Amino acid sequence: MSERWTPASWRGRPARHIPSDYPDPAAVARVEDELRRMPPLVFAGEARRLKSLLGDVAAGKAFLLQGGDCAESFKEFSADNIRDTFRLILQMAVVLTFAGGKPVVKVGRMAGQFAKPRSEPIETIDGVTLPSYRGDNINGMEFEAATRAPDPERLLKAYAQSASTLNLLRAFAGGGYADLHNIHRWTLGFVDGSPQGARYAELTDKISEALTFMGAIGVTPQSHPGLHQVEFFTCHEALLLGFEEAMTRVDSTSGDWYDVSAHLLWIGERTRQLDGAHIEFMRGIQNPIGLKVGPTLEPDELLALIDTLNPDDEPGRLTLYGRFGSDKIAARLPALMRATRAAGRQVVWAIDPMHGNTLKASNGYKTRPFDRILSEVRSFVEIAQAEGVHPGGVHLEMTGQNVTECIGGARALSEGDLADRYHTHCDPRLNGEQALELAFLVAEKLKAGRTADVTQAAE
Ligand code: TRP
Ligand code: MN
Repeated sequence: MSERWTPASWRGRPARHIPSDYPDPAAVARVEDELRRMPPLVFAGEARRLKSLLGDVAAGKAFLLQGGDCAESFKEFSADNIRDTFRLILQMAVVLTFAGGKPVVKVGRMAGQFAKPRSEPIETIDGVTLPSYRGDNINGMEFEAATRAPDPERLLKAYAQSASTLNLLRAFAGGGYADLHNIHRWTLGFVDGSPQGARYAELTDKISEALTFMGAIGVTPQSHPGLHQVEFFTCHEALLLGFEEAMTRVDSTSGDWYDVSAHLLWIGERTRQLDGAHIEFMRGIQNPIGLKVGPTLEPDELLALIDTLNPDDEPGRLTLYGRFGSDKIAARLPALMRATRAAGRQVVWAIDPMHGNTLKASNGYKTRPFDRILSEVRSFVEIAQAEGVHPGGVHLEMTGQNVTECIGGARALSEGDLADRYHTHCDPRLNGEQALELAFLVAEKLKAGRTADVTQAAE
């Protein structure tokens, strides 16, 4: 690992889940050259800013909220879709900030989350075998030979979609939509009138009252721009290293390499081999990065990965996302947290309660029981508090759309409801109501932890 890093040094390592069956490899190289000349999607300074905010999370002073689609798609791309996920993140952030009494770092799984690692490289339907769908920036979902063949032109389309998504997100974040005085306008139509909607309305009344008071004493959006805007960041899994390499540039301010396709990139559970291509690529970029931590990872291996990915123990550089499953977290997480704590490593510990809780419904739909998702989050917070670790954040697959993909929740979606609005291009996502319910649960847990801190301090 100590060999010289370059944006291309990953090419000498075994690479999993990167397509090698492009019909015309020369066309891939041409597209990558074109991408190399494209403007950055984000700036290095913004990535450094996120790193510093995540440093606050690592120190227990803030909370990370990260969420969005499992996979973005060309078909579901629309301004309304982007706005609805964004406003859901704002609502959840309000709930968490209010309860936790700490700033919430907002990161959208948006503007670049296309490529998917798949458990099976091929799919057979009625005796016909084709490559699996791997994400819209690689191939198409339709079960046709021509659509399933990887096409590099899709990378350019994904870049363009990411750029316009980010453009809109920047406008929403800075242009007044996110002003706290709009707090009651973020509720999605279908959430309004639900128990979660009512709970949220109660909270917004309190905050609006506080804002009126603050306005009266001179604290206004004019005097305090923070009331009027949010800092919003983007992230995706760094799976397609050819694309990420093309988007990796030297920052003129610091002279360091940054992957300017998103503020934060993460390494998936299936591509975290210590000697593999993904770890090699990620160790060299200076962005804040994440690592998925699943049920097979042993403490020694985790520490070795941390040494490679964050050798200088920089706070905010590395976020670990546990994704064990509600039935495995209690057996796996405590030893891992103990290891990072004993080694004194500055990491953010967060939870991805989605990926360990996927199952197939009896009617064939891939789904996730909402109660297992909640249960894994609850266990995460309890284990972290017992281990003396800050429960730093959540990483969710969710959408502002009124989908029926995860069973359970306040409306008790059943397996039979899945067919109604099952739109995901990959894994089942929480809908707006379920996501808000989860935010309230985390809020309650954080609040309980906060009161416990105060009682301890008073003793
Ligand atoms: N800028 C502050 C923050 O991001 C306050 C704020 C403005 C806010 N709009 C918001 C917080 C929307 C949550 C949601 O924390
Ligand atoms: Mn997923």
